Amino acid sequence: MPLTQPLRIHELSTEELAVYRTLDPARIPEHVAIIMDGNGRWAGKRAMKRFLGHQQGAESVQFVVETASRINLPFLTLYAFSLENNLRRPKAEVSFLMKLLKNYLVGNVKRMQDNNVRMNYIGRTHELPEEVQETMKWAQAETANNTGTTLTLALNYGSRAEIVDATRSILQDLINEAHRRGCSVEDLLSVQGGVESIEDDTLSRHMYTKDMPDPDLLIRTSGEMRISNYLLWQIAYSELFVTDRLWPDFRGEHLLEGIAAYQQRSRRFGGLDTEFTDETLPEPQMPEMVSR
Ligand code: FPP
Repeated sequence: MPLTQPLRIHELSTEELAVYRTLDPARIPEHVAIIMDGNGRWAGKRAMKRFLGHQQGAESVQFVVETASRINLPFLTLYAFSLENNLRRPKAEVSFLMKLLKNYLVGNVKRMQDNNVRMNYIGRTHELPEEVQETMKWAQAETANNTGTTLTLALNYGSRAEIVDATRSILQDLINEAHRRGCSVEDLLSVQGGVESIEDDTLSRHMYTKDMPDPDLLIRTSGEMRISNYLLWQIAYSELFVTDRLWPDFRGEHLLEGIAAYQQRSRRFGGLDTEFTDETLPEPQMPEMVSR
C-alpha cells in the first residue's frame, strides 16, 4: 500500500533530486532491503580501525532512512547484525556494534519522529544483551504511532534460523490447538486437510516479516555477489542491485540509483510479458526428432 503522507521532495539534496527526477513516482517500490557491507574495507583503505568503519556506517543508515522517508518508501529493511556476525566476530567488535546500535537508537529517535519513521526489528533479538533490548523496545514504543516509512533492523538475524523458527511456530500452534480440543495432532491435521494444508502462505504468516510485503528490491553494497543468509524466503522474486560502493559511502542518492535500476527491470514473477498471451502466441510446434 503506498503511503498517503505528503512527499517531501523539496527536502532532497541536489544530487538526490537529479536522480529522483529520472524516476516514475508511481512505481516507487513498496519494500527495499539492503545488505550493508564494506565497513571494514572502508576503514582499512584509510588505515583506520574497523570500528570507525562501523561508526561511519551508522551515519549512512540515518542518511538513507531520511531519504526513504522523503520519497514515501513504505518499508526499508537493513541487515545490521547477523547471527553469524554474533558468533564469528571478535567479542570486542560485537560489543562495539551493540554499543553503536544503542547510541544510534538513543541519538536518532527524535529524528525518526520528525521523519514519521516507525522502528521495527527482525531476528533472534531475545538473545541480544538485556540493555540493548530495552533500548530497542523503547525506540519501538516511541515511534509506534508513526505512519511513514517502517524501518526494520535485522539484528541477530539469519534467514535459515527464521525458517526454522517459522516451522517450530507452525508445529507449536498445532500442538496448542490439539491440546485445546483434546485431540491428537494427527486428528487435528486430518480435520484441517492433512499436511497439504501447509502452504507457502502458512510459512509466510509465521516469518518475522509476516506484516510486511516481500522486498521488491534487494541492494548489496561493496560488490560481493552473495545473499549471506538474508531474507532467503522473502527475496524469491526481488530484483537485485549490487554496487561496488562501500556502505559508509552510501547515501540517499545511491538508494535512488538502485530504485532507478529497479524501474528499468521487467518483473515477470515466473510468467511472461503481457504482450505474450494464449491469443497472441501460436501453438508451439514440436521440433522433428532427429534420427540417428
Ligand atoms: C558489514 O561490514 C556490516 C556489518 C557488520 C553490519 C552493518 C552495521 C552497520 C552499518 C553499523 C551500525 C548499524 C546501525 C543500525 C547502528 P563488514 O565489517 O563486514 O565490512 P567488510 O566486509 O569490509 O569487513
